[in-house]
Amino acid sequence: MFIRSKLIGFGHYLPKKILTNDDLSHMVETSDEWIRTRTGICYRHISESETTADMATKAASNALKSAGLTANDIDLVILASVTPDNTTPASAVKIARNLGVRAGIPAFDISAACSGFVYALTLADNMIRLGQIKTAIIIGAERLSKIVDWTDRNTCVLFGDGAGAAVLCAAESTGTNADTGVLSTCIYSDGSQYDNLQTDGGVSTTQNAGFVSMNGKEVFKHAVVSLSEAAENALQQAQIKKEDIDWLLPHQANIRIIDSVGERMELPKEKVIVTVDHHGNTSAASIPLALSENISAGRIKKGDIIVLTAMGAGFTWGGAVIRL
Ligand code: ACO
Repeated sequence: MFIRSKLIGFGHYLPKKILTNDDLSHMVETSDEWIRTRTGICYRHISESETTADMATKAASNALKSAGLTANDIDLVILASVTPDNTTPASAVKIARNLGVRAGIPAFDISAACSGFVYALTLADNMIRLGQIKTAIIIGAERLSKIVDWTDRNTCVLFGDGAGAAVLCAAESTGTNADTGVLSTCIYSDGSQYDNLQTDGGVSTTQNAGFVSMNGKEVFKHAVVSLSEAAENALQQAQIKKEDIDWLLPHQANIRIIDSVGERMELPKEKVIVTVDHHGNTSAASIPLALSENISAGRIKKGDIIVLTAMGAGFTWGGAVIRL
């Protein structure tokens, strides 16, 4: 018997407040035109009072509802985030409490920046295929507005807040690439790039979270290569041809990065999912948010093959092929 992880539910949540590029132009020396042309971002959602765990809980509840499950069915909770509510315990445990998940269930956070959701998917998928658990909820959620320096125009225009979640469950499969569910995952890191994208503080150094700082041009260059390679590797592992995919869903950092990845992979623009225009960069939340939004809008359909690819601070990167 061959076991795969099926993706059986999706949910997302965005805080109500919208911050437009024009709003930003009153805060720092920038313009709607600069932000649109250099990043593709038109507006982003910002949380006024909801924490990462609050937003994650809402996205997770929506995902459970769409899966037709209750918290009682969950065997594992993983949160991917760089903006947890507390340094310890893990916010995943708080989310488990909020959802009413039974005691004894493993719950933990993953810190892999913008690649966090792909890392969470990889771990949950492996645990399911090993038979350790049957059902998992994985969430990407961020309140990046709390680690952004709102006086730094180089970074503050790029980010937004939000959450997305997916429910995975064990399903008997054929073991061929005709199956539905997670068909492949791959994750990577390169510590030599540690300084190119980071917060300028942390618990064991400055005792505070610090603000995001980066070498934008280096990040851009590496992002295009890593995102394309991770997608190609995931496809190769799944033994799926590029021509057969329905969607490429890259991490939503910048439209120019997304377009370059699409071009490098020789994919038509219509197959590349874009949400950066109305979400900004929501780090670990970006992929599950885009997935859930496009599924609930009826754009991504049952049976579709989707390639996920992400890259972020570390650098970390990774890819996955899923069939709904
Ligand atoms: N408004 C107006 N001008 C700005 C702004 C702004 N918000 N930000 C920077 N500028 C100025 C700079 O000061 C610079 O001015 P100068 O020429 O007088 O020095 C000029 O614009 C050009 O700056 P560049 O850095 O060359 O602009 P570039 O075209 O490279 O775009 C950007 C910058 C958008 C950050 C780009 O490098 C990028 O997207 N990098 C990837 C970084 C990223 O997406 N990080 C997110 C996290 S990582 C991830 O998720 C993968």
